[in-house]
Amino acid sequence: MRRALLEVRANENVGPYTLLRVDRGPIEPGAPGQFFMLEAPGRLLPRPMSLCLAPAGELAFLIDPIGPGTRALCDLVRGDRLQVLGPLGNGFRLDVERPLLVGGGIGVAPLPYLSELLGRPPAVLGFRSDWHAEAAELVPRATVCVEPTLVTELVPDGMDVLACGPEPMLEAVRGRDGAAQLAWEAPMACGYGACYGCAVEIDGELRRLCVDGPVLSHAA
Ligand SMILES: Cc1cc2nc3c(=O)[nH]c(=O)nc-3n(C[C@H](O)[C@H](O)[C@H](O)COP(=O)(O)OP(=O)(O)OC[C@H]3O[C@@H](n4cnc5c(N)ncnc54)[C@H](O)[C@@H]3O)c2cc1C
Ligand code: FES
Repeated sequence: MRRALLEVRANENVGPYTLLRVDRGPIEPGAPGQFFMLEAPGRLLPRPMSLCLAPAGELAFLIDPIGPGTRALCDLVRGDRLQVLGPLGNGFRLDVERPLLVGGGIGVAPLPYLSELLGRPPAVLGFRSDWHAEAAELVPRATVCVEPTLVTELVPDGMDVLACGPEPMLEAVRGRDGAAQLAWEAPMACGYGACYGCAVEIDGELRRLCVDGPVLSHAA
């Protein structure tokens, strides 16, 4: 884990989301599903973001502008500087036999990098509109659905599911037969285990998602 001030290379629109590309500097991309704390201009606390893509010399984050921090990050332009800390937490295990990537909405963010490291396995992605579904272009071999069809309706049996998305989607995936690795979310203030702000109860146990997750394995 390292902290560095990185230069913004580009800011691209992908549907309603922003793909923020920054120089990698001394920061390692880590494993897919790990995250980085990005300091949003004008905000006290950094915001956690998954790594979306890791082309040579670059880190790219896919950001949904839902509030002041994410909007400030989406407003960054080429040449701006961004404080980044990471990689943090536990990512996806890659030792799976029949991988299927499952993403919902902005949960698609870590899947492009995950797909690359797993050798482009099949993916199923769900979005709330065709505009949001433009983000599917970042994930190879993706089958896409738009509401009212739910992405969980597209998950066949017998696959090793690696999923990121809203909580109800993760709960539905967890309720199916078969093992799954799920990337959970909670508001995070520090990102490295110090503040307990991200503690959530999972299977009756309090876990700090930033150090025990965000990716947790669920047995078959
Ligand atoms: C490990 C991890 C990885 C993430 N990766 C991405 C990513 O790749 N792309 C992306 O766009 N977003 C990602 N997020 C979510 C992102 O960090 C939040 O959307 C962001 O911090 C919100 O900041 P804000 O100031 O824009 O909005 P705020 O004003 O802080 O929040 C807006 C609303 O969202 C709720 N909220 C904020 N953060 C979370 C959260 N983590 N979980 C549930 N509800 C929340 C708030 O309660 C509020 O209602 C990730 C979160 C985590 C924990
Ligand atoms: S975010 Fe501080 S303990 Fe997890």
